[in-house]
Amino acid sequence: MALYALGDLHLHFGTDKVPRDQIKGRLWKDHETKFLRNCSGLITDEDTLVLIGDHSWGRNPEQCGQDFEYIRSLPGRKILIRGNHDMFWDVKKTGSLNSQYGPQLTFLQNSFATYGDYAIVGTKGFTFEGPFFLDRRGRIIGWDEEKEEHAKQLVSRELERLRMSFELAKQAGYGKYIMFLHYPPTSIIEDRSGFTDMAEEYGAEHVIYAHSHGESRFHDSIEGEMRGVKYSLASGDFLRWQPLKILN
Ligand SMILES: [Fe+2]
Ligand SMILES: [Fe+2]
Repeated sequence: MALYALGDLHLHFGTDKVPRDQIKGRLWKDHETKFLRNCSGLITDEDTLVLIGDHSWGRNPEQCGQDFEYIRSLPGRKILIRGNHDMFWDVKKTGSLNSQYGPQLTFLQNSFATYGDYAIVGTKGFTFEGPFFLDRRGRIIGWDEEKEEHAKQLVSRELERLRMSFELAKQAGYGKYIMFLHYPPTSIIEDRSGFTDMAEEYGAEHVIYAHSHGESRFHDSIEGEMRGVKYSLASGDFLRWQPLKILN
């Protein structure tokens, strides 16, 4: 039994309305085939695969049908976290997505899943992405404060959702946590945030996030051990479509 993760599949079997600038380059060529092949040689039906958001470019369940079929065809139990591009997944639709595609797929929102004696907790998260103002040497000298204010509101809503996920797991008797966020836990100007504070508060062992794709974005947030919590980026192109093993 093992726990794996990867994010940012950006599937588009059911739509050709794809912003190509987001998924361009050699690493994205036939990435669905590469990922399926990598999973098939690695993941068994006893294993769990957490897909960390930006699953599909489809804007509604109809346009996502073939993408869900692809995800269903991957080996193991699949747990899905919301990403910023997942237009098919309004929080209010979580129940109906689970009844339509469960139990093979679990859409995790304001809830938790289990893996052995661990609780899998998570939410989409949010990080401020600028715009940042740079000097001639490329150093950050300021940013759009109005956008930063709006970002703070989104962060606070996501923190409430994350706390709900932790609290439900705690009330059910779980004391060991693996935490998933689609967005990185910190922006490029932070080394701690409400998300890292919450990971520390509940004693999460490992925080896995995605969203940072394209080589220039791979190191936008924290990686490795920080204040007792391990952080890993698991966006698909960063991992070259090889699922990241989290637990045995
Ligand atoms: Fe993405
Ligand atoms: Fe994203």
